[in-house]
Amino acid sequence: MNTDLHHNYAQDVWDKDRQHFVHPWTHFESFDKAGSLVMNEAKGAYVTDINGKRYLDGIGGLWCVNVGYGREEIVQAIADQARKMPFFNPFVDTTNVPAAELAAKLAELAPGDLNHAMFSSGGSTANDSAYRLIQYYQRDRGKPEKRHIIARKEAYHGSTYISASLCGKESDRNPNFEYQTDNIHHVSTPDPYRIGDGMSEEEFSSFLVEEFEQKVLEIGADAVAAFWAEPIMGAGGVHVPPQNYFTGIQAICDKYDILFVADEVVTGFGRVGHWFCSNDMFGIQPDILVSAKGLTSGYQPLAATIFSDRIYKSISANPGNWFQNGFTYSGHPVACAAALANIEIMEREDLFAHVREVGPYFMERLQTLRDVPHVGDVRGSHFMACIEYVANTDTKEKFGYDVNIGKRVSNAAEKRGLIVRPVGHLNVLSPCLILTKEQCDTIVDVLRDSMTEVLAEMKTDGVI
Ligand SMILES: Cc1ncc(COP(=O)(O)O)c(C=O)c1O
Repeated sequence: MNTDLHHNYAQDVWDKDRQHFVHPWTHFESFDKAGSLVMNEAKGAYVTDINGKRYLDGIGGLWCVNVGYGREEIVQAIADQARKMPFFNPFVDTTNVPAAELAAKLAELAPGDLNHAMFSSGGSTANDSAYRLIQYYQRDRGKPEKRHIIARKEAYHGSTYISASLCGKESDRNPNFEYQTDNIHHVSTPDPYRIGDGMSEEEFSSFLVEEFEQKVLEIGADAVAAFWAEPIMGAGGVHVPPQNYFTGIQAICDKYDILFVADEVVTGFGRVGHWFCSNDMFGIQPDILVSAKGLTSGYQPLAATIFSDRIYKSISANPGNWFQNGFTYSGHPVACAAALANIEIMEREDLFAHVREVGPYFMERLQTLRDVPHVGDVRGSHFMACIEYVANTDTKEKFGYDVNIGKRVSNAAEKRGLIVRPVGHLNVLSPCLILTKEQCDTIVDVLRDSMTEVLAEMKTDGVI
């Protein structure tokens, strides 16, 4: 294609998008002016935009392209399944081969007695299904008063009515939306940098567990149905909880007959070096585990709500029970075939051993950025990382909302061929798990240069 023609084509796509595609989290005013960066191709850990510029993808699509781009085996599995049978009704008593195989595989990979999977198309709907399951289970076993959920501030669980209500981030709570608030409560974020400041790890952990128990007692132990948490909080700022926090919470859950829901949409499928980290890293046994993203490495939309024998047996004990939940595309054969091929790659390449080797190196290299002025905190685990910028590193005072430092740094990185995610005063990183040590070095070098440029610019603008 000649250059002018290509330019017109790229411009045309950009404009169609700007005029007609309402993106998740659209800011109408700026979107109308600036539109979007149109990505067009990808291979390995790199993505290429419609104009041919290549970027190292520091966000793995969006915490999801775990095995990297361009995996022919997954592409082939998708094509083969679409050709053989793209779809058939999953309701009641018909199924398909990949869904049955995948449900059994998840039972093998998930900890303990999590042997039953409900499928949906994304993390939000998978959390919705978990909520409906809990509601059903508690009522069915004669505990209708157990309808309160305790989630955490800063949590992210999705963007449907219920999953958005489970979220705890104030800045995402828009007064133009309604949220379910009468039975959904939020306790402190396990954020050692801000909330745990001045406490030892043990003290912070006890503080959080005591706060949780107080919340349970305030609501009434007989009224609390479930606790909901991402084992390592992702979009809320990559908070790794203090040691003993989750075991302490689980002990309270056991004491008061409260279910434990682990939202492993981000932390599952190798992001921190394990199939799931609830048990492997934190020693807890969830009653329900929510998975999506890395389940197919983003090659197809798919999520799973995996739950325990205990819940299954309790509901199935009543012969009159119908569990009326699910979707046309629950257990979609093409998506399940993609997941099976994805899992096969992870197993064959022992990808998580690579994560356990390179992940700590990535974190160690990122820590070197602490000497950049206005870097307040660098935190995370393996291939989940976050840099927090502050106006004052001594007082931890935040920059004003309009400073948008995360976005400034991500723009500067983008110019240099690196994609990082801006979230207010944070930059979040979640690369593909195939990342090499050299690519870790590149990310750190580009971030340092980008921060230096942005800080100089902010100085010129009189912001600092
Ligand atoms: C922890 C967690 N749960 C749920 C979701 C929602 O998933 P989805 O966007 O696929 O609906 C996300 C998305 O980022 C997430 O990070």
